[in-house]
Amino acid sequence: MTKKKSTKNWLKKHTKDKYVKMSMASRYRSRAFHKLQEIDEKYKVIKSANSIIDLGASPGSWSEYISRNYRHKKLIAVDQIVMEPIEGVKFIHGDINNSEHRDKIKQIITNADLVLSDIAPNITGIEDVDQAHFFEIFESISSICSDFLNKKGILVMKFFNGLSCDLVKKRLKMLFNEVNTYKPDSSRSRSNEVFFICIGYKD
Ligand SMILES: C[S@@+](CC[C@H](N)C(=O)[O-])C[C@H]1O[C@@H](n2cnc3c(N)ncnc32)[C@H](O)[C@@H]1O
Repeated sequence: MTKKKSTKNWLKKHTKDKYVKMSMASRYRSRAFHKLQEIDEKYKVIKSANSIIDLGASPGSWSEYISRNYRHKKLIAVDQIVMEPIEGVKFIHGDINNSEHRDKIKQIITNADLVLSDIAPNITGIEDVDQAHFFEIFESISSICSDFLNKKGILVMKFFNGLSCDLVKKRLKMLFNEVNTYKPDSSRSRSNEVFFICIGYKD
């Protein structure tokens, strides 16, 4: 198939997608909105969290979900790509692996009840390389938890099925009392993304 034809096919499928239609109708920034909504409806991760860090936040639909549905949350959104402002959300433009950018986060928030990560690396299509990148992301997020997450806190983290998935789950089980793996209905079935819902940070 030519590149033009496959782009056309992707666009056709994308615009037919139920969740894309719902996002457009409700003017959400992206269909990712529904993933956090489903996670929250099932695991009630946001209600009891007063301070929240949203990692890999752009274009902003997870932060948008929280600010539309909950009041009085301290919400810090971080991304290496600029995000259009959302009322009540403090945005930090930075890379979570960069220590100076981490310091910027620390100036604004020192502890969090909930860490969300929808971070996705660029996919190369080479299984070993991609899995190594996913593992690096896990290590960064784990160090963010160590820096910011309160004892008994919650982590929601996107991961990708593959070679390193079991190892990451094993590590998470050492850090949290409960680790659930969840694939929301709004996550495309052809995508191998899953979410780890980790409850009760041991500190
Ligand atoms: C799938 S998108 C997130 C969508 C977002 N949750 C939403 O609801 O709109 C993944 C984001 O992760 C960000 N990202 C990837 N690596 C990052 C890093 N090292 N530091 C900060 N952001 C990163 C990308 O820039 C991208 O915006």
